[in-house]
Amino acid sequence: MKVKAAITRATDKIEIEELELAAPKAGEVLIKMVACGVCHTDASAIKQFIPANLPMVMGHEGVGIVEQVGEGVNSLKVGDHVVMSYPSCGCCDKCFEGHPYACENSFSLFFGGAYSDGTRRLTDAKGNEISVLFGQGGFSTYCVVEARNAVKVDPEVDLKALCSLGCGVQTGAGAVLCRMKPEPGTSIAVFGAGAVGMSAIMAAKIAGCDKIIAIDLVPSRLEMALEMGATHVINGKECADVPAKIKEICDGKGVHYGLEAVGVPVLCQQMLASLRSEGLGVLVGVTGDKEVGVLANAWLMDKSASFAGVVEGGANPQTFIPELVKFYKQGRLPIDKMTKYYKFEEINQAFEDSHSGAVIKPILVF
Ligand SMILES: NC(=O)c1ccc[n+]([C@@H]2O[C@H](COP(=O)([O-])OP(=O)(O)OC[C@H]3O[C@@H](n4cnc5c(N)ncnc54)[C@H](O)[C@@H]3O)[C@@H](O)[C@H]2O)c1
Ligand SMILES: [Zn+2]
Ligand SMILES: [Zn+2]
Repeated sequence: MKVKAAITRATDKIEIEELELAAPKAGEVLIKMVACGVCHTDASAIKQFIPANLPMVMGHEGVGIVEQVGEGVNSLKVGDHVVMSYPSCGCCDKCFEGHPYACENSFSLFFGGAYSDGTRRLTDAKGNEISVLFGQGGFSTYCVVEARNAVKVDPEVDLKALCSLGCGVQTGAGAVLCRMKPEPGTSIAVFGAGAVGMSAIMAAKIAGCDKIIAIDLVPSRLEMALEMGATHVINGKECADVPAKIKEICDGKGVHYGLEAVGVPVLCQQMLASLRSEGLGVLVGVTGDKEVGVLANAWLMDKSASFAGVVEGGANPQTFIPELVKFYKQGRLPIDKMTKYYKFEEINQAFEDSHSGAVIKPILVF
C-alpha cells in the first residue's frame, strides 16, 4: 500500500515522500497511525550522532489503530488502540527473563533499520528498501510493527495524548517506578526537567516521595516541575554547589535516589555526590562516548551507594504502559501540560521547537 512518510536520506534532513509499505508478515500488525511524538533519539539519529542506518523513517513514539493482523498474532485484533514502544527480540536470555529493555539485540533492533527477521517493509519509488527506526518508523501514515512491540490500551482515552508513553514518559517514570521503586517518604533529585525528567517527577509523586528536587537551567521548566510534583527546585545557573544545596534540603544527608535525565557528565557527577548512604543514582541521559569521571570511593564505596544505567526506564511496555494509562486517566500523570500538537507536515517546525526548548513534547498528528 502507499504511505506518506518523513524520510531521512542524508544527515540532518527530513522530507515527506510517498513510499510503498508491504503487508505485515507473521507476528506483525499494520497500524493506521493517529499520532507520533518527537523524541531526542529521533534527532540524534537524524543528525547521525547515533549511527542509524539511512535512508530511514524515524519516529518511535507512535500511537494508532490496528488495521490488519499478520498470521499467528493473537494479542491484538483489528480496531484495537495501541501505543507502540521499543523493540526487543523476544528470544534472548534477557527477553526470556521478562527484561526486554536489556535485550541483547537492542542496538541493532533500535537503529539497524530492519525487523527482527532481518527484512524491511518499506520501499521507495525506485524500489530501494527503506529502514525504520525502532522497528517502527512512526513518522508515517501507516506502519508495520511486531505485535510484541504494540501495547493495547484503553479505547476510552484520547489516543494522541499517549504518544510519549512509548519512550520518554516510560523512561522517566520507569526509572523511578520500575528501577528505583522508592519507599514512601524518601527523597529524590531529578537532574533535567525535560520530558524524561518531568515524567520522573510525576512518578516520584505517585510513589509518595516527600522531597522531590528538580534541577534545570530554565525557569519556566522549573515552574512546571513544581506543578508536576516537585517540592524543591534548583536553578543550576544560579547555584554554585548543587550537591551541597541538595544535602541542605535533605537534613544534611543527601537524597535516597538521583536521576540524571540530561546527558551531561558533570550532572551525573553532581547526582552521585548528592546521594546519601546506600543511595541509588540512575543514569538515563545519553552521554554518547563522553567520559564521566566518577570518584568511586567517595561517591560509591564509602557510602555503600549504587550507580546504575537503564534503557527505557527498565520497564516492560506490555505491563507498564497500561499502568501509565491508568495514572493518566486518574489525573496523576498530567502529561498534557508538556505537549504541543503539530500537523504531520509541520514536522520540521516540531523538531525546531524541541531543539530550541520552546516545547517539551511535540506530537505530530496524522
Ligand atoms: N535511556 C533511555 O532509554 C532514554 C530514553 C529516552 C531519552 N533518553 C535521554 O534522556 C535525556 C533527556 O531526554 P528529554 O527528552 O527529557 O530531553 P529534554 O531536552 O526535553 O530535557 C533535557 C532538560 O535538561 C535541561 N538541561 C540541559 N542542560 C542542563 C544543565 N547543565 N543542568 C541542568 N539542566 C540542564 C534542559 O533545560 C531540559 O529541560 C536525553 O539525553 C535523551 O536522549 C534516554
Ligand atoms: Zn532479546
Ligand atoms: Zn525516545
